Amino acid sequence: MNNKNEINQVKNSMESFRSDFPVIDQLINNKKLVYLDSAASSQMPNQVINEVSRYHSNDHANVHRGIHSLSHRATETFENTRKNVSEFINSKNTNEIIFTSGTTESINLVAQSYCRPRLKKNKKILISHLEHHSNIVPWQIVCEQTGGSLDVAPINQDGEIITEKLIDMIDSSVVLIAISHVSNALGSLTEVKNIIEAAHSKGVPVLIDGAQAISHIKVDVLDLDADFYAFSGHKMHAPTGIGILYGKEELLEAMPPYKSGGDMISEVTFSATTYNDLPYKFEAGTPNISGVAGLGAAINYIREIGIDNITVHENSLLDYMTSELQDVDGIRLIGTASKKVGVQSFLLKDIHSHDIGTILDHQGIAIRTGHHCAMPVMEFYGISGTARASLSIYNNHEDIDHFIKGLDKVITIFN
Ligand code: ALA
Repeated sequence: MNNKNEINQVKNSMESFRSDFPVIDQLINNKKLVYLDSAASSQMPNQVINEVSRYHSNDHANVHRGIHSLSHRATETFENTRKNVSEFINSKNTNEIIFTSGTTESINLVAQSYCRPRLKKNKKILISHLEHHSNIVPWQIVCEQTGGSLDVAPINQDGEIITEKLIDMIDSSVVLIAISHVSNALGSLTEVKNIIEAAHSKGVPVLIDGAQAISHIKVDVLDLDADFYAFSGHKMHAPTGIGILYGKEELLEAMPPYKSGGDMISEVTFSATTYNDLPYKFEAGTPNISGVAGLGAAINYIREIGIDNITVHENSLLDYMTSELQDVDGIRLIGTASKKVGVQSFLLKDIHSHDIGTILDHQGIAIRTGHHCAMPVMEFYGISGTARASLSIYNNHEDIDHFIKGLDKVITIFN
């Protein structure tokens, strides 16, 4: 869907969703808030806020543990969300859906539980130069623990992983490939399907860091044939502190627990412990139940709008923002991939990104500045950081017009 009429229809219907987000409707420094930092954390609609509040007001108890009605209700909310997540990403079943605290924990889980027993000298993890620190450091740590090594596939000047080069680097020494679906710093969309197909032809599994993709484009783990897929609630209009690790059932079955404690056991004696079945084997301790309730509501909300409508809306806004930015005097766009989601990093003359961010904040405009937890990407461009504007469901053309005027003010101040 991309003709002008259809884009306009989506634009009009998206405008009605904006009022679902109470945080957007406020003044910051006496100016209307323009929130362009959704890649760092997205805002929650009333539907999610109300569901978290409803859960706390009516149903709160511990899950899987109580014989009483409240515990049954909390467990029902919790397990219904697992079903909801499974349907949303099209996993084969709910055993493949593990609740974690977020993408970072999901990746650490795979590093320690899948890779640690398999890595050794002469074995590798293959990542790319585009990754967020949370898709670099867990692999460095497991390499240190095992004697394995980390291989890094290159990117080009547009900020795209060079797919053919990455594929050439896959051989039998690679234990796992871990790459982002969408770059948090640049918004580049990775050709994950081609990479997964090539990796599988050489018998290598693939983890996708989906933190920046999940609320912007359709994710179908079966169609992708991803072995692991990690994402966070707070990047998809749910609360912080809740996330998902999807893993193929046969891989998760064969993996040892990552954390230990209550709920992940089947039987405990002082001489031996047996572990619970999937998915509970990986969910030790009392989980973030209200976060799970909120995640369920966020998924319902995204489904109500339709992920394809969200993609059309955000792509059209990104096109508008990019063309307006290109006309700003002294701008240098960082990240010009041919396929992107709604993220644009940039430099403006020789003005420090923190100064850009501070002056924009005085005008009510929220962007992120600095290295975006992707220092190797900055090193690739020979810079210390960028200013980054990122888009979501609730943004509109007016937000971008304010943002561009804000940049004019930055230039005026520095002139
Ligand atoms: N990973 C988040 C970002 O890109 C925090 O801003």
